[in-house]
Amino acid sequence: MRTDMPQTFYLKDYQNPPFTVDQIHLDFDIFDGKTIVTATTAYKKNHDGDLPLILNGEHLDLISVKIDGALLTKDQDYQLDDKILTLPCPAQDSFRLEIVTEINPEKNTRLDGLYQSGGTYCTQCEAQGFRCITYFQDRPDVMTYFTVRITADEKTCPVLLSNGNLTHTGKAADGRHYTVWEDPIAKPCYLFALVAGDLVHIADTFKTMSGKNVDLRICVREGDQDQCHFAMKALKDSMKWDEEKYGREYDLDLFNIVAVSDFNMGAMENKSLNIFNTALVLAQPETATDRDFERVEAVIAHEYFHNWTGNRITCRDWFQLSLKEGLTVFRDQCFSGDMNSHAVQRIDDVDLLRRMQFPEDSGPLAHPVRPDNYIEINNFYTVTVYEKGSEVIRMQHTLLGDETFRKATDLYFERHDEQAVTCEDFVKCMEDASGEDLSQFFLWYTQAGTPALNAVTNYDAGTKTFSITLRQSLADTPGQTNKKPMHIPVRFGLIGPDGQDLIDETILHLKQAEQTFTFDNIDEKPVPSILRGFSAPVKLSTDLSNDDLRFLMVNDTDGFNRWESGQIYALRVLNEAIDASEKDQDFDLPQDFIDSYGSLLAQAFDTDCDKALLTRALSLPDITVIGQHRSNVNPQAIDNVRREIITELVEKHGDALRKIYQDNRSAGAFINSFEARSKRALQNFVLGLLGTAKHENAVSWAKTQYDAANNMTDRLAALSALCQTDSSERSEALAHYYDTFKTHQLAMDKWFNVQASAGRDQIMDDLALLITHDDFTYTTPNRVRSVFSAFGMLNPAKFHDESGAGYDFLTDAIIKLNGINPQIASRLVTPLRDWKRYSPDRQEKMRACLERIAETPNLSDNVFEIVSKSLKA
Ligand code: PHE
Ligand code: ZN
Repeated sequence: MRTDMPQTFYLKDYQNPPFTVDQIHLDFDIFDGKTIVTATTAYKKNHDGDLPLILNGEHLDLISVKIDGALLTKDQDYQLDDKILTLPCPAQDSFRLEIVTEINPEKNTRLDGLYQSGGTYCTQCEAQGFRCITYFQDRPDVMTYFTVRITADEKTCPVLLSNGNLTHTGKAADGRHYTVWEDPIAKPCYLFALVAGDLVHIADTFKTMSGKNVDLRICVREGDQDQCHFAMKALKDSMKWDEEKYGREYDLDLFNIVAVSDFNMGAMENKSLNIFNTALVLAQPETATDRDFERVEAVIAHEYFHNWTGNRITCRDWFQLSLKEGLTVFRDQCFSGDMNSHAVQRIDDVDLLRRMQFPEDSGPLAHPVRPDNYIEINNFYTVTVYEKGSEVIRMQHTLLGDETFRKATDLYFERHDEQAVTCEDFVKCMEDASGEDLSQFFLWYTQAGTPALNAVTNYDAGTKTFSITLRQSLADTPGQTNKKPMHIPVRFGLIGPDGQDLIDETILHLKQAEQTFTFDNIDEKPVPSILRGFSAPVKLSTDLSNDDLRFLMVNDTDGFNRWESGQIYALRVLNEAIDASEKDQDFDLPQDFIDSYGSLLAQAFDTDCDKALLTRALSLPDITVIGQHRSNVNPQAIDNVRREIITELVEKHGDALRKIYQDNRSAGAFINSFEARSKRALQNFVLGLLGTAKHENAVSWAKTQYDAANNMTDRLAALSALCQTDSSERSEALAHYYDTFKTHQLAMDKWFNVQASAGRDQIMDDLALLITHDDFTYTTPNRVRSVFSAFGMLNPAKFHDESGAGYDFLTDAIIKLNGINPQIASRLVTPLRDWKRYSPDRQEKMRACLERIAETPNLSDNVFEIVSKSLKA
């Protein structure tokens, strides 16, 4: 165990920056093997006393420091350690500091600061990568004007990009050339970006609402251009949407997107120079699935939307991360809903929240949407900050209504443009525009944990009144006890026996621990529809009967609650079956359940069927979701019961399923409409179901589908079904896939992923082959995720195998990656964090793995924080 405790940072310690920056000029001289950075910065004293100027800097070789032209001497004029350069408070109120550093991007496997990806130099500065480029007050509330000069070899780096506008280009000695960039808008250093390499681009233009033309470019490696057109369309759609929905116009003449293969996250919103993981830009039907297309569209929008929510208005400090991320996720979710389907979007967003964020919120790393302490900020780019953060914005939208919410965001943009602000500042705009008091609501930002909400209903036929009593409670989380009741908006309707809404949909404002709401003049016993659209991120339990749920599945006017009722019903049945199996008792699948599944299947034959919604309705809760409703979780046992139930459903409804599969088989040219994607989703869902049930046709149909596929969605679904088996068709298809796609990195990630997430008994042998394969590498995060995250997160039954072999496999990788890329290593710990939720034998093995990681020499702060907090809980 590490004995030197890393520093914890606290929100309560926030202080204004002691020095502000008027402007900075960065000069990059890029050579093979070393890059020289000269930073010339105009500082201004921002306090009365004589505080030192403290500059962050890591992984840097300091060459020289000059103040107003005078060379400074180490130890005499300034102090230096491996993280901080300290300069005693200069006598003058304004001064110019010139700092020269040398860095080695070619050797940087951490992928922050300046690094190389496939020969292209690129930067990643959020959250704290800028300090790996030069010494600076690396904090988001220091906003300034950047000019940048880049010089590099013209042959290897014909393209030299940075933020803002290109102002000069020219030749330098020895076959080198340079560009100069000026960003007219003040920004924090985490939004700085540089790209230098041999790239090609596709170009387009967008005419903004005030008639300005913006040049749009997407830059990629030679050969990838054809895969960029979908991203370009998504960019233009996003620009238009932000004008229409939020009145936000783009503010520069140029917008660049660069795609790189080695990237820790999805993408980055650097001012006018977004840098993307190739996985979120490149998309064409032969190599990208329908899901990939949707993600490209969503992430292009997300990064573009950051231009206003994040860049023009940024965060005062990193505790406020959700100020930009929660709001921007909310915006991209609404955009995707507008582009595709609102009901499906909501279901998928809630599904993600439940599978990923709810466990985080009840586990050892639970933290509020606005955390109040951290060791390593990179560990706080979490589903809580992003997805729950978006729910918290969505609730404010619900409370204010669409029109007033728009007034409030207008006020926010006007009041705080070019500022670094807090979550309080945002909520104040909501209050000022609406006149609402949101002080209790603000607890959503500061209290961790998912509230439990219980509903008890009562209908009195004599007085014709219906009442609903809502109770809320919030469990303790690390560092937080005795929490206060929250303001929970509960969207609510009452449905009569004929399926008609009996009241206008309303919002119940639950503000106390317990409240009863009563409705008069209700002539017949209604069925309540509670928490429509999932109007608050809570765990709802109700006294609804299975009959009520089946009624809502068919009759609720809210699409989300129709789906939700089916899921709750299925969960009840699954849990009963698992209980029975744990007690070695027999369990008969209820006929009502079988019939209700049959009615759902019958909808597939209606001409106006929404196949995307139907696919979601037919999907049984997965192992992860079921596990959350149980203690001492045994994922293998859950998997077995779930498979048995699916097998029985397939036996009972074999004819319908066969027909649905055949009716929806892709035929003819590929179409990328929402309808066509929905049809493929239904087809491939049924194929997966038949595979899970080991249906007699499953392998031959999958192989036929694989051989005939003209798009990656159908191909991968077929390959995935084959990968669950030990058939010769499996090896044939895998070999064919490899031969066909071996030069396409993203397609090859899928080849690794589909094997690592397969529920085969030989999985540990498969994994051993995958990580010794020539195409495997620990230095490309996408490839690492395609094996280890796929196995740890998408393959719970095998990852949690009682032997513990899965845990050891992941642990070895984490230890190895700790020395290569600590951010990626730390994220891989996720499936081990919740060790206490599993059966005692599994707990023991998982804890031993966490301890083995904790004992690793040179453990990074990133991994240390997650592992030590997991063990402590
Ligand atoms: N800010 C990026 C986003 O949400 C995510 C990111 C964080 C990327 C840190 C890189 C590093 O779009
Ligand atoms: Zn973001």
